Amino acid sequence: MKILAIDTSCDDTSVAIVENGNNVLSSLLSSQVEFHKEFQGVVPEIAARKHLESIFYLVDQSLKESNLSLNDIDALAVTNRPGLIGSLLVGVGVAKGISFSTKKPLIAVDHIAAHIYSPHLTNDIEFPYIALVVSGGHTIITLVEAHGQYKVIGTTLDDAVGEAYDKVSKNLNLGYPGGPVIDKLAQSGEKNAIKYPIILLSGADEYNFSYSGLKTACIYQTDKYLQKGFEKTFENISLAFQISAIEPLYIKSKKYSDHSGIKNITLSGGVACNSYLRERFSNSTDFNTYLPQMKYTTDNAAMVGGLAYHIKDDIEYADNSLDCASRVLVKKYTLKKKKSALL
Ligand code: KG4
Ligand code: ZN
Repeated sequence: MKILAIDTSCDDTSVAIVENGNNVLSSLLSSQVEFHKEFQGVVPEIAARKHLESIFYLVDQSLKESNLSLNDIDALAVTNRPGLIGSLLVGVGVAKGISFSTKKPLIAVDHIAAHIYSPHLTNDIEFPYIALVVSGGHTIITLVEAHGQYKVIGTTLDDAVGEAYDKVSKNLNLGYPGGPVIDKLAQSGEKNAIKYPIILLSGADEYNFSYSGLKTACIYQTDKYLQKGFEKTFENISLAFQISAIEPLYIKSKKYSDHSGIKNITLSGGVACNSYLRERFSNSTDFNTYLPQMKYTTDNAAMVGGLAYHIKDDIEYADNSLDCASRVLVKKYTLKKKKSALL
């Protein structure tokens, strides 16, 4: 079964054709980073317009690269939520249009569920497992019992971890997007030069995260955390921030692993590109760690087409009433199986 998938949830326009869940026939992406750079953040209006400019070309090109025509496609899949509303609307509108004109079924996919699926494109992973989704918009520990069946264990109470990277970078004028910039600077930082707090919530929030305090400490209070004999360089700030941002992810995941007895864990979402995070988990015997390939770590449509294949029999297909806010389509299959809905 060949699924043509679209993701326009944020600032990457992506289209892919995926056969039977993991045979990626084409996976194309048009990055908008150059257009948002001068604002050091994604400008929603620009993002929506840029999606419109490139989406039809990418659909055409993905068919050409796969030597297919629309007739050979069995279904459409599209991210309908969550994301920037103007951006989502472009992908959803195009997917609805193709589905309507070709009479092919349309599968709506939750973007976070698609990130959770991304390591499956290149790994065999046994259920149940723990999924850590870390991106510009989300910081979530989830128990995954099957494709489409998730139980959220912990989430952030304020900023997402990627958002903290981006905001620290923006406020210190280091560049955009902040994650890769800070990750690179951190490679030349001196260990223990600066020690920001590692924030670990407890009680009812034992699996939750908070990044606003770390962000503030980094931007305004570095002198307080600077250790004697060291300098306040951007490299040292970056390394110290990176350790305080990533350690809680490891510690909370380990805590839940100990509690549940589950050792299999996946990392996904843009922050899963982070070198410290990847090493921290991969070098540990606490977990069997599964990572997506780098190209499937940040936003992409292959993960959408892959998940759509696995949930297609458990959902009702979408139609022209599909919107970009309701979780109804995700709930339909999760509720049907009497499991808690994702997110
Ligand atoms: O998954 P993604 O492409 O989009 C969202 O759904 O948010 O993630 C983008 C986020 C941004 O915050 C970006 O700064 C972060 O991923 N990121 C990184 C790294 N590469 C991208 N964060 C830390 N280290 C990196 N190497
Ligand atoms: Zn994403």
